[in-house]
Amino acid sequence: MTGTPQKRKLWRDVILFDGVDTLPEPMAVMVEGDRIGRVVPMTEFDEATAAGCEEMARGGVMTPGLVDCHTHLVFGGSRADEFEQRLEGASYEEIARAGGGILSTVNATRAATEAELFEAARPRLEALMRDGVTTVEIKSGYGLTVADELKMLRVARRLGQELPVRVVTTLLGAHALPPEFRDDSDGYIDLVCNEMIPAAATEGLADAVDVFCEKIAFSVAQCEQVFAAAKAHGLSIKAHAEQLSNLGGSAAAARFGALSADHIEFLDEAGVEALREADSVAVLLPGAFHTLRETRLPPIAALRAAGVPMAVATDANPGSSPIFNPTLMLNFACTLFRLTPREALAGMTAHGARALGFHEERLGRIEEGAPADLCLWHVDTPAALAYAIQPGRLRQRVFAGRVCEL
Ligand code: NIG
Ligand code: FE
Repeated sequence: MTGTPQKRKLWRDVILFDGVDTLPEPMAVMVEGDRIGRVVPMTEFDEATAAGCEEMARGGVMTPGLVDCHTHLVFGGSRADEFEQRLEGASYEEIARAGGGILSTVNATRAATEAELFEAARPRLEALMRDGVTTVEIKSGYGLTVADELKMLRVARRLGQELPVRVVTTLLGAHALPPEFRDDSDGYIDLVCNEMIPAAATEGLADAVDVFCEKIAFSVAQCEQVFAAAKAHGLSIKAHAEQLSNLGGSAAAARFGALSADHIEFLDEAGVEALREADSVAVLLPGAFHTLRETRLPPIAALRAAGVPMAVATDANPGSSPIFNPTLMLNFACTLFRLTPREALAGMTAHGARALGFHEERLGRIEEGAPADLCLWHVDTPAALAYAIQPGRLRQRVFAGRVCEL
């Protein structure tokens, strides 16, 4: 292979949040190819090093590229009408039981072609990227047939191929009971386990498998069946659990070595302990909490005391969290859930990456050898990203070592 070797890139005098904490002094960060090279305090930086580098910027706040570890970005239609119904007093659960909610998006998603779903999802993903996202997880779950679930996953994969962002895909076949299986919930779970999961695994379309463990969705026993099938096909496990009630879905997921349990407003002490033992991440979704006007808070103090890593994500979806603004979620995580800005930022960087299985690669961290996904921001301190609700603060987005157009 020929071609000019890429010069090392240099950012100097940055205030650095490295995925865990804000470093005490201004830093220089160097990138070599798609990896982070040296990260040194400015006091130890020698000008001779700068000579061989392309200088990208001076000053500013630098964080790892944001990791949005829980989204449903690919979907057809809109649920603005349900928003109005909820304003008139209907609950999310009532709307779901009456055949609306997730199922209304299922109808619109089934009716859409792959190309239509791609074009609808692209601007949503671009909105996330303009707010700093370099890694995003995208779930299926609005197809609920083998063909329609695979169609959604193909769209998600294509988004990752065509846009400068890392996309992780999750099969969420067990999201809701499709109308064809109205009285045969177990029959549908068999379809998920025996057909959907094998097909998605064989075609390499899914990195993980997720379930919705809830009274309006699937029981713990049914979710365990799905986890077992996922495991048998070498796929990671995640769960929507303890969102509206405490069924024990998080603990069940943890028993299967889940990467994460997500929502978890109703998680109890035993659930916290189960996540701790399994080294699973607690994914907090303050956008859904806000949109559904929930009052039950996730057990933040218990999670903190147990040392369970907490991630923060948008849950971007047409129903419970029509929010495509990750830094707003940093603010919500602090304002609504009382996370510190440091915890919220770690939740959307290092811990978000861990919730997607990237812990060993050190994605979401700024240290030597980690993937060079970075954001440079127009703020004075990292905490300001959570403090103010203000679009347009992203100054540079670096994906795999390349500065991308904003
Ligand atoms: O993460 N909890 C279930 N699933 C989604 C909502 C999907 C929808 O309402 O369309 C969630 O909140
Ligand atoms: Fe979700």
